[in-house]
Amino acid sequence: MEIAGKKVLLTGATGGIGRTIAGTLAAAGANLILSARSAEALEELAGSLPGSGHSVIVSDLGTPGAAGKLAASAGEVDVLVANAALPSTGRVTDLTDEQVARMLRINLESPILLAQALLPGMLERGRGKLVMIGSLAGKAGSPRSSIYNATKFGLRGFAFGLAADLNDTPVSLTLVAPGFVREAGMFADSGADAPPGLGTTTPGKVADAVLRAVDSDRIEITVAPLIQRTMAHVGLMSPHISHRVQSGPAGQNAADSLASGQTEKR
Ligand SMILES: NC(=O)c1ccc[n+]([C@@H]2O[C@H](COP(=O)([O-])OP(=O)(O)OC[C@H]3O[C@@H](n4cnc5c(N)ncnc54)[C@H](OP(=O)(O)O)[C@@H]3O)[C@@H](O)[C@H]2O)c1
Repeated sequence: MEIAGKKVLLTGATGGIGRTIAGTLAAAGANLILSARSAEALEELAGSLPGSGHSVIVSDLGTPGAAGKLAASAGEVDVLVANAALPSTGRVTDLTDEQVARMLRINLESPILLAQALLPGMLERGRGKLVMIGSLAGKAGSPRSSIYNATKFGLRGFAFGLAADLNDTPVSLTLVAPGFVREAGMFADSGADAPPGLGTTTPGKVADAVLRAVDSDRIEITVAPLIQRTMAHVGLMSPHISHRVQSGPAGQNAADSLASGQTEKR
């Protein structure tokens, strides 16, 4: 789908990657509905984007019913970019029931319910694109990431199942799956280093992938250096090998440092 002039609902718009996606899509001529929890941050972002007619909707996707209300307030949407998420790191035994429920709701339930609510209108209007921001954490499990892994594996499964249901319809779905992102976002904010030798990608490359996704029939676009994509694939095909590799001190230390740098985002 040609993005210029299309109405795009972007969740997690105020985050490190969300801001870059907003800038890239606005520069390509999209009309954005920006959503997150902070009205001030959303207004400031909307005012900084190229083009005009961008709007904001404040929504706390950790609240039951919020996804449906957000979809209803957004009205007719051509493109959904489901990007909001919590890092969801830490040992599951260190999380409260409420934290686990919120992580599942924001990262997994909300993209599902947004797609469910927006799809009928897209099908009726004869055009639509669903872009889900997944992660390589949806392919390989990692220490201190069990809930994040659960949400991103779950999102990947939902995305591929829904894409299959959308076959032969005017609506398509693409899962954009980044690896570790430097410069901005939940990984960069943690102050942790990526595990040695794996490299990182940038918010700009993720945003470019989202732009490509809007005009593509591919169901998955991975955004990461080759070594990271290979390791994630090994994790998918042979979890035992991946588990052994990450059991060493380097993997454990990197996971501890990431989780301790993300405790404030629970
Ligand atoms: N950064 C990475 O290395 C990386 C790698 C792979 C995949 N990803 C994925 O990329 C996407 C964006 O991540 P990011 O790095 O940009 O994270 P981020 O900087 O932490 O931004 C998260 C965004 O989600 C919003 N959000 C958080 N809690 C919310 C809630 N309860 N209701 C509504 N919105 C909420 C935040 O806004 P408010 O707090 O203002 O509400 C913010 O806009 C996520 O899906 C993430 O899993 C990131």
